[in-house]
Amino acid sequence: MHNPLSAAFDKRIAYYTERVAVRLDEILPPATQPPRRLHDAMRYAVFNGGKRVRPLLVYATGECLGLAQQVLDAPAAAIELIHAFSLVHDDLPAMDDDDLRRGKPTLHRQFDEATAILAADALQPLAFSVLANISDVTPVIRNKLVKLVADACGSIGMTGGQSMDLAAEGRALSAEEIEHMYSLKTGALIHAAVVSAAYLSDDLANDRASAIDAFGRTIGIAFQIKDDILDVEGKTEVIGKTAGADQRLGKATYPDLVGIDAARARCESLLSNALEQLDDLGNDAEPLRWLARYIVERGH
Ligand code: IPE
Ligand code: IPE
Ligand code: MG
Ligand code: MG
Ligand code: MG
Repeated sequence: MHNPLSAAFDKRIAYYTERVAVRLDEILPPATQPPRRLHDAMRYAVFNGGKRVRPLLVYATGECLGLAQQVLDAPAAAIELIHAFSLVHDDLPAMDDDDLRRGKPTLHRQFDEATAILAADALQPLAFSVLANISDVTPVIRNKLVKLVADACGSIGMTGGQSMDLAAEGRALSAEEIEHMYSLKTGALIHAAVVSAAYLSDDLANDRASAIDAFGRTIGIAFQIKDDILDVEGKTEVIGKTAGADQRLGKATYPDLVGIDAARARCESLLSNALEQLDDLGNDAEPLRWLARYIVERGH
């Protein structure tokens, strides 16, 4: 690694994003392998410029707990595959009907709707295949990881949150209801990224595990509030998604309910809660502190 662990975490971001990209490239079938259109589409969903926040959270938590990078690659890649599938479905005409993702045409626009559905269908089980193939952990830990990601992805996690998001279009939810929806549609996978590293740590004391768990929950909600703020305030060219889409769809969002200033204040207060939750983890948690600030301060 080019950058020693003592340097600030931002010096290692390029290294980690490249590391997970290499792993994802090994995992995904080549675009030349039949069915070519499907494999090409799966690669389009994964390699079109995501920030890789979830893998970064896996590696940062791993650093915090003193884990070897090698053991973190599988959960980092698996969770990014689930994330990529969730975005492909999220953009479909039946859901948010978006034309732009990461500054490029959404998958169903670039290919076609059926291919987008199938590519997402295939990315999801591929994630579980990656987790099932982890060889350097005990079967008990492997099963725990599979269940963690499955629950975070399913009806009690991301998919359930997406269902609530669609049901809430054109309706007014309370701030609590919105945060609950966010904790599922976005928070569940972010929480799983953080907790996956904790599962890989054999001798993690309970108080450290609870701190990491709480941090994962808090920062996941902040992540979605910030996404909604960017939808209101960001420029399409910068955020790579059509700005103002939430209002057009009548989405129940935090900024829509309380206004942009109060939404920003809520994000800041979640950030300070998240940082407090890391208080007892000392210097080792600097990478997570850096990522928490990045999540709330990011420009896209
Ligand atoms: C976008 O997630 C969807 C949400 C959960 C808000 P990201 O902002 O992490 O998307 P990419 O992967 O960086 O494009
Ligand atoms: C999506 O939330 C959350 C997912 C589970 C994909 P959004 O619908 O706000 O995400 P973007 O803005 O399209 O990336
Ligand atoms: Mg959506
Ligand atoms: Mg969307
Ligand atoms: Mg959004």
